[in-house]
Amino acid sequence: MSSGADRLELRHAVERHYDSLAFLYRLFWGEHVHHGLWPVRGGSPKDAQVRLVSHLAQRAGIAGGERVLDVGCGYGAAARWLAANHECCVIGITISRAQARQARRRNRRDGRDDAVAIIRGDAAALPVCERRFDIVWVIECLEHLAEKGEFIRRATRTLVPGGRLALCSWQDGGRGDGLVEAVCDAFLCPSLATAAEYRAWCETAGLEIRCQEDLTARVLDTWKVLVRRVSRPWARPLRWLVGHDVRRFVDGFPIIARAYETGAMTYGLLVARQPA
Ligand SMILES: C[S@@+](CC[C@H](N)C(=O)[O-])C[C@H]1O[C@@H](n2cnc3c(N)ncnc32)[C@H](O)[C@@H]1O
Repeated sequence: MSSGADRLELRHAVERHYDSLAFLYRLFWGEHVHHGLWPVRGGSPKDAQVRLVSHLAQRAGIAGGERVLDVGCGYGAAARWLAANHECCVIGITISRAQARQARRRNRRDGRDDAVAIIRGDAAALPVCERRFDIVWVIECLEHLAEKGEFIRRATRTLVPGGRLALCSWQDGGRGDGLVEAVCDAFLCPSLATAAEYRAWCETAGLEIRCQEDLTARVLDTWKVLVRRVSRPWARPLRWLVGHDVRRFVDGFPIIARAYETGAMTYGLLVARQPA
């Protein structure tokens, strides 16, 4: 991704993607738009997704009542979970108007709109509110940003002393066999970063690494479930009702599964702390 114009074009494509696919995401994946975490083979995908959220919360040391900035909040499912289970006060930000609308509707329906606010905005232009949040929470959004290191630098400034950046991300496994590029192309990512790059960006920003985990083996079933769901007889005709971009996206499911299986990609969790 070379120029500012390319970056803007990609940002618009990401926005259109999440706006236009809101219906399909809800149909095939539910209100959490991220991988699940499986302890063993099988189990419900929804449980697995909540398990990932709960695992990240545990690793981030969320104890209750934290002020959280949820970057790339999707439909606000993780934000509501944090409010319901840990009495957190959450501001969620998403590039997608459709997601923001549905998230606000869902907050009202669940009686969470006092604790969860949703803003439609661009994480790449995050206004820096110095020392405002206990947690900056990012599940699978940085994949879509070109300047990941710059995002981490700005996010760090919004953390109070002792505050944590809690991150789950698709990562480049460093094999250089072209699979990562194919995944980036299908899923509108300018690039994926390696686990080492995430670590280095956090350290450069002045954060202390608290924990870094490779969860690849535990998230892999996500793509098996999704490939199965889009292959169901009633779902197949949908393929011809949607546009080229969506078909490319769906055709990316087996590619990403292969990238994880071969080690071309990994799935990582990282928690880093602002020194007190
Ligand atoms: C894979 S989804 C993850 C959703 C969410 N974290 C969850 O837990 O369900 C990626 C999210 O990142 C958001 N996103 C992508 N690029 C963004 C940007 N530049 N600014 C804000 N949000 C962005 C999308 O709108 C979407 O909500």
